[in-house]
Amino acid sequence: MIPKVRIHLICTTVGHRGTMHLGLCLRVLILVALTVPIRAAQPAQETFTLTVPDGPTSTLSGSSVSLLCQVSPLFNAEPLEVRWYRSSNFHSPVLLYKDHKIQEAPVDPRYRGRVSLTGGMERGNVSLTLERVTVEDRGEYVCQVTSKQWYEKASVFLTVNVTGSEPVLSVAEARGGGGQVNVTCLSEGWSPQPKLTWRNKDGTEIRNEQEVLNTSDPQGLVSVSSWLLYAPSYSDWLACTVSLSEEMKREGRILPHIYTAPTAVHGVSKEAYIVTLVLLILSLVIICALCSVILWKRRGSMWCSSRKSRNRSDQTERGQRPAGNCFILISG
Ligand SMILES: *[C@@H]1O[C@H](CO)[C@@H](O)[C@H](O)[C@H]1NC(C)=O
Ligand SMILES: *[C@@H]1O[C@H](CO)[C@@H](O)[C@H](O)[C@H]1NC(C)=O
Ligand SMILES: *[C@@H]1O[C@H](CO)[C@@H](O)[C@H](O)[C@H]1NC(C)=O
Ligand SMILES: *[C@@H]1O[C@H](CO)[C@@H](O)[C@H](O)[C@H]1NC(C)=O
Repeated sequence: MIPKVRIHLICTTVGHRGTMHLGLCLRVLILVALTVPIRAAQPAQETFTLTVPDGPTSTLSGSSVSLLCQVSPLFNAEPLEVRWYRSSNFHSPVLLYKDHKIQEAPVDPRYRGRVSLTGGMERGNVSLTLERVTVEDRGEYVCQVTSKQWYEKASVFLTVNVTGSEPVLSVAEARGGGGQVNVTCLSEGWSPQPKLTWRNKDGTEIRNEQEVLNTSDPQGLVSVSSWLLYAPSYSDWLACTVSLSEEMKREGRILPHIYTAPTAVHGVSKEAYIVTLVLLILSLVIICALCSVILWKRRGSMWCSSRKSRNRSDQTERGQRPAGNCFILISG
């Protein structure tokens, strides 16, 4: 529009000088009128590339996310075909834009009603917006843009962050003993794989040579576990932190002493039961032993006194002192 007006102005000034130039000016105007609209429509680029993020794009389960994809150089992408698909699912895409509109079919039913192109295609932004993200949406997405002369594709990896369960800590006697205990930390239901760290009560990280074990369920949620040998003391608790980021972390604590197991954050250890049971039996045995000793003593002294009285009558007869009879009886 702007070039047209400017040329018009030039023409009128030229036109005032002489009508001779008017014919030429008209021709120029016609030429400009013909070329300007064509240039404004910008024919699809003969070749182009796609710009996508370098690393994975991450989001939280349940939220919305944009998988960025942009044509380069920037031009109107409305006349092109845009296909977003999961790596193995070209023929049943997540979204298909063709003939200036989003196609109803063929598309993956799992994405129906959850996808759109909201970035402004006229500005070359073909980013995919995905709503109500679930863990199953995790993975690689391919952005493919096709013109009459050219096509290009690039992929974007989506990770869906899920915070797992609070770590469960337990204490067991260490194999081989050595005065140490074996503390285990387990946390389930994470995505992607979280970081697990052990800390003492001062918050200092405890280096652990044992590698963190991980398993993943069919949904793709990861469980992590780790164990640590620790010399226990009554006052020092241990913390196990499992985290994806500062905002997405969970911590469990324990007093890693077998006899303090009842104060443990989670459950009472089997060892504590055994120890209590042994103590109970021991005290019962001691009580029984004491009882029988008392009974024996009583019976002994009764026997003694009867013997004494008998002895006394002997004494009067024989005039002798009995020696040590009772003591021998009791100690026997
Ligand atoms: C998702 O977790 C990764 C670590 O695996 C972290 O770098 C990223 O910031 C998290 N994203 C969100 C949206 O919380
Ligand atoms: C493209 O669109 C997405 C939203 O669909 C937006 O987040 C992104 O910033 C846009 N990119 C540019 C370069 O404007
Ligand atoms: C500690 O416990 C874990 C299981 O929780 C076990 O795999 C490991 O062998 C134990 N280590 C020692 C030294 O007892
Ligand atoms: C466990 O972790 C390792 C190393 O981080 C990784 O290569 C492996 O894929 C993970 N396994 C599972 C089942 O997540």
